[in-house]
Amino acid sequence: MTVPDITIAIDGYSSTGKSTFAKLIASTFGFLYLDSGAMYRGVTLFAMENGMIRDGAVDEPALEAVIGGLDLHFRRDGGATTLWLGDRCIEGEIRTLAVSGYVSPVSAIPFVRSFVDGKLHSFSEGGRVVMDGRDIGTTVFPDAELKIFMVADDNVRAQRRFDEMVAKGQSPVFEDVLANLRERDHIDSHRKTSPLRQAEDAFVLDNSAMTLEDELIWIRGLIQGRFGILS
Ligand code: DC
Repeated sequence: MTVPDITIAIDGYSSTGKSTFAKLIASTFGFLYLDSGAMYRGVTLFAMENGMIRDGAVDEPALEAVIGGLDLHFRRDGGATTLWLGDRCIEGEIRTLAVSGYVSPVSAIPFVRSFVDGKLHSFSEGGRVVMDGRDIGTTVFPDAELKIFMVADDNVRAQRRFDEMVAKGQSPVFEDVLANLRERDHIDSHRKTSPLRQAEDAFVLDNSAMTLEDELIWIRGLIQGRFGILS
């Protein structure tokens, strides 16, 4: 397993803008962006479509029996990275509230976490990678050269997720979005296997009142200081 030349790990609570920020870093500084949450969402979609989630419970033995053969992979399309299940692009389907409702319990299952960790390592081989998630700086890449932990006010986060869903043509209810986000934060930070927590050497970014431009100024200082990469 080859560790990438430079890894930037971005962890934090749901809807703190991790993926937007990670994509900005990728396009500004020439890193490959990988969204680890998309992988957990992909496993969840697969389980839902194959009757492995019934009455809100995951049929773990059924999922464990097939997960090894699951052809879940990222494809690079110009600057963007999309998630595929076999020959099907599932980038849109994994972002619905239905998938969001089950993804935390699915991602709490230890064999799901090792499956995803293996995929993330294989897609990160060589080069410069920025990856966002919940346990990237603590478990997936504990030796990442730069770690960032993102936080933001609950209502600001829910509003962002709500706006994102509306822009995609969905009709969410704000209270449902807020409740889902709080529930996921709780499950993600209380599960046994690699819970969401701040790595000791992570820089905290609270972007409740920051614009993307402010975030870029903040990260530019860190990246230039640490790696001497200019953009
Ligand atoms: O970032 P996101 O909201 O798309 O992530 C979806 C879920 O996946 C999140 O609720 C927790 C889980 N996840 C995880 O457990 N570990 C990661 N590294 C990334 C995501």
